[in-house]
Amino acid sequence: MMEVVSIILAAGKGKRMNSDLPKPLHKIAGKSLIDWLESSLDEVKVSKKLYVLGHQSEKLIKSIGTADYVIQEPQLGTGHAVKLTKDKIKNHEAIIIIAYADTPFVPSNKIKKMISQIKDGYDISILGFVSSNPKGYGRIVKNGDEVIKIVEEVDTDDETSKINLCNSGILAGRANNIYNYLNQVKKSSNGEYFLTDIISICSKNTSKVGLVLSSEEDLIGINDREDLSKAEIIVQNRLRTKYMKNGVTMIDPRSVYIDARSKIQKDVTVEPNVFIGANVEIQSKTIIKSFSYLEDCFIGRNCSIGPFARIRPETEILENVKIGNFVEIKKSRINENSKVNHLTYVGDATIGKSSNIGAGTITCNYDGKQKHKTNIGNHVFIGSNVALVAPINIKDNSIVGAGSTLTKDVEENLIAVERSKQKQFKRRRKN
Ligand code: UD1
Ligand code: MG
Repeated sequence: MMEVVSIILAAGKGKRMNSDLPKPLHKIAGKSLIDWLESSLDEVKVSKKLYVLGHQSEKLIKSIGTADYVIQEPQLGTGHAVKLTKDKIKNHEAIIIIAYADTPFVPSNKIKKMISQIKDGYDISILGFVSSNPKGYGRIVKNGDEVIKIVEEVDTDDETSKINLCNSGILAGRANNIYNYLNQVKKSSNGEYFLTDIISICSKNTSKVGLVLSSEEDLIGINDREDLSKAEIIVQNRLRTKYMKNGVTMIDPRSVYIDARSKIQKDVTVEPNVFIGANVEIQSKTIIKSFSYLEDCFIGRNCSIGPFARIRPETEILENVKIGNFVEIKKSRINENSKVNHLTYVGDATIGKSSNIGAGTITCNYDGKQKHKTNIGNHVFIGSNVALVAPINIKDNSIVGAGSTLTKDVEENLIAVERSKQKQFKRRRKN
């Protein structure tokens, strides 16, 4: 079998991001740039993964899993970075795929196409795109149909700066060819060794350079925060389109944010201005009303959530549950057919089936040091403005009167009220 090695360049300072966080760890729809890139490389089935790290390498080492790496110090350009990987690749017939950590959405079928170009005899294959605003990208220069060189932005003149065929940075070739061409790369005008200079060397060597094309959306390179926000818009549009195709109704899709790690089933309706964070699962026929904020939770079938609901991590909401406005739920399980309709905090709690939690109910789960649990049974009715001081159990079929502050368990079938007696006095008037 053909050996394929991926080399991801992630050593640069990412100066244009102006960030303390290394660029490859910035997130789009909740996933880091390198996780996006790894997701598409996973479909290519590489036999070895290699990273070039440098700037803040300690932070990145934690995020690259079992991949091998080399350290580039100082960072003298993309050509210099790739050169350092030579000793890590034993089989010089292997095909290597070079990708940049700041180019996250490379389609895997295009990488496969580049690999087949190499198998078909091209020395090098590059992945390009046509851009309406090519500034900042290396320009691919052709002579007729043949790619002859890549000119970097710093080296463009009047003529080349107008070229809108851009280099994505993804490059494939046989290891021995690439390292051989890299040995001939000279320092550029800005003191760096450009990987892209191997294209003219290859072309002059009378070897053909293969060109595969994809869209600008697929190949956007992220250098600053504006690029990051553009990439976020691309992904959000894709996610919303995917869910709408799968049968989700979005009344105003542009105002709905979805984390890439969430799942929404068919016939869910999402109203305008909803935030669906990481690892949220929403089952069929549920409606998420406006201004709700959901993270790391499961919401069963046929529920109604919000408007203005906050569903926090480790919450499970089962079928036919209603969660109304200004309700916060944290690390709790709400069983079938229950209702928590208004102005309530439920934390570290379990609520049974068909129970009703009145407006303004608070589970007092925190004593300043520790968190405690509240268990509410089936068919329980909690009146308005009740404080349940945890740990506490409110057992099946019981009722808690409005305004109570409970510190003791309530047994099955009982009514509990904790309230000072109402006093009444005659009203005095001056005249
Ligand atoms: C690069 C390409 C350009 C292309 C664009 C696509 C070069 C010289 N230019 O420009 O043709 O159009 O990407 O987005 O390759 N890196 C290192 N070590 C270094 C320098 C960079 O590992 O010494 C890494 C960076 O961390 C980054 C990647 O290489 O992940 C690309 O570097 P960057 O500075 O972003 O290059 P661009 O200016 O975007
Ligand atoms: Mg870049």
